[in-house]
Amino acid sequence: MAKLIINEENKKSRIEPEIYGHFSEHLGRCIYEGIYVGEKSEIPNVNGMRTDVVDALKELKVPVLRWPGGCFADEYHWMDGIGPKEKRKKMINTHWGGVVEDNSFGTHEYMELCRQIGCKTYVNGNLGSGTVREMSEWVEYMTFEGVSPMADLRKENGHEAPWKVDYFGVGNENWGCGGNMTPEYYANEYRRYQTYVRNYHPDRPIKKICCGANVADYYWTKGVLNTAFDHAEQWHGFMDGLSLHYYVHPEGWEIKGSSTDFDADVWYKTLSKALYMETLIERHGAIMDEYDPDKKVGMIVDEWGTWYTCEPGTNPGFLYQQNTVRDALVAGITLNIFNKHSDRVKMAALAQMVNVLQSVLLTEGGQMIKTPTYHVMHMYRHHQGADLLESTLTGAGEIGPDEWKVPKITESVSMDKDGVITVTMNNLSVEASEKVEIQLANRGYHVVEARIVTDSDMHAHNTFEAPDTVTEKDFAAYEETENGLNVTMPANSVIELRLAK
Ligand code: AHR
Repeated sequence: MAKLIINEENKKSRIEPEIYGHFSEHLGRCIYEGIYVGEKSEIPNVNGMRTDVVDALKELKVPVLRWPGGCFADEYHWMDGIGPKEKRKKMINTHWGGVVEDNSFGTHEYMELCRQIGCKTYVNGNLGSGTVREMSEWVEYMTFEGVSPMADLRKENGHEAPWKVDYFGVGNENWGCGGNMTPEYYANEYRRYQTYVRNYHPDRPIKKICCGANVADYYWTKGVLNTAFDHAEQWHGFMDGLSLHYYVHPEGWEIKGSSTDFDADVWYKTLSKALYMETLIERHGAIMDEYDPDKKVGMIVDEWGTWYTCEPGTNPGFLYQQNTVRDALVAGITLNIFNKHSDRVKMAALAQMVNVLQSVLLTEGGQMIKTPTYHVMHMYRHHQGADLLESTLTGAGEIGPDEWKVPKITESVSMDKDGVITVTMNNLSVEASEKVEIQLANRGYHVVEARIVTDSDMHAHNTFEAPDTVTEKDFAAYEETENGLNVTMPANSVIELRLAK
């Protein structure tokens, strides 16, 4: 039997709530239809934002939302998206499907969305095709309180008070769609652009995110830090985060693979690729440690998730895909990895929130469904802001074909401010249930909540006809012992146990 030993007396790093963040890009049906339907829509909305979607996101406790891209960010000109809607410029979204972008969702609408959800703001600036002045004026428009051309313009457009920009991304994927730059070239541009991302209000500073690597491009991480880190060392507020992007494509970038049609080997291959996140965090983290041993610069995994071949019959530029129990496992595995590395990982954003890639919500007209990934993120919300606890799993062994062997179980454990312990565990086996003996350092803990997301069919998913095939349910396959509990986890499962004295 596998054994999970928890030392609740050894609190490690704080799990920043932002690790449970989301990403919304002007891509396919994410913003338009998925989130924003306009004030005149028959779909129930508040100021144009779908009520069903906002309510579901509030339940999820979304801590932060990144916008407007992605690749879209480096060709987004923010002034096109302010002022009277009928006068806003129309453009072609060249990255994503070549459709008309009418700019009816812009800065004011994004800020309104974050207000309704109750989350922090993460605006991604345009370094690839925008000017320093444009970036600087956007920050002034959003955050300056006094008299200035941009603050006055914001007021003319109906918003008297400045907004709070919690995070600002200085470019996106500048090694690729954001300008095809070399690390040294980008890092010098970062130095210049970030200078004009002014912190007008020192009491509520904007945290600046520098563009980090794609997957295992350690050359990028090294090159950027080599060129820019001397400033970060000396100047507080020069660089608060360095991003990392990693997607799971079961069959690689060219083929990707179906979201719903796969066999057990591909199941393990997918989960093994999800586990690779840990290697990436450790290796990029080791390079960051060389420059920043005190871990002042956070690793910001602001794009992660599964990326499959899009659903048959949909626009390939819209990246719409289904979401099965396999995605629930990818989410559970990845979030456990982030928790375990919360000393360095300070924020992450699942790509993307609605109708694109590994979404938590899918919509069709006036209907909305929650995906298995939604239910996992909902269970894991209890880790937000809690302290990671020391935990060690032994004796579980591995499973899967030789090339794609994975551990049978993964876990992470935290304690919240009220002393409640949250244990999240995944059974990666598609074949067998697993017994886990959990032992705590102290006696007297009892289960106050136990939940599970699972289905015996690894392909199980929710549809608009059957929205509740895979949901979060109460879990009862455990027995309390003197200083812990014995748990039986079904195959393909993600569970959450909450323990209190
Ligand atoms: O999330 C889809 C795209 O993936 C983003 O626009 C880009 O940053 C990444 O390559």
